[in-house]
Amino acid sequence: MIDRWATRVTTALVVVALGASTALAQSVASDPGRGREISESLCSTCHIVDASPGNIAKSDISSFHSIANKPNQTQERLAGAIIFPHPAMPNVSFTNAELRDVISYIMSLKSPEPASK
Ligand code: HEC
Repeated sequence: MIDRWATRVTTALVVVALGASTALAQSVASDPGRGREISESLCSTCHIVDASPGNIAKSDISSFHSIANKPNQTQERLAGAIIFPHPAMPNVSFTNAELRDVISYIMSLKSPEPASK
């Protein structure tokens, strides 16, 4: 599952490389609070979007907490995963600012690196 996504996300990244990720790299003031509101309204039917470490919402869909804590998770990778619509996801169109906010919210759920890294 992760491998399949990695492939698709890599493809999507080529598409967004000059767009969103540039905006993300230069992100000025992203707003995780707004990202959370967007997540609650658009994403919570499938994903657990709060900070609880619980992994499973419906079937085997990852929680945002577990997505944030995947090894080597990056803002760019998330941008690819979100922009390139996944099969069961409603075709959501974000502005760059909204996308940045959602990503900054998801990344805010990342736990501190374990000491024994
Ligand atoms: C209709 C159900 C559904 C909705 C709504 C939905 N998702 Fe997903 N999402 C999935 C499924 C299914 C997967 C793939 C399985 C998985 O990664 O757990 C997925 C995967 C993802 C991934 C990739 C995880 C990874 O690292 O591989 C991200 C990021 C993501 N969703 C973000 C979002 C965001 C942001 C929203 C709201 C705008 C959203 N999703 C709304 C079903 C949904």
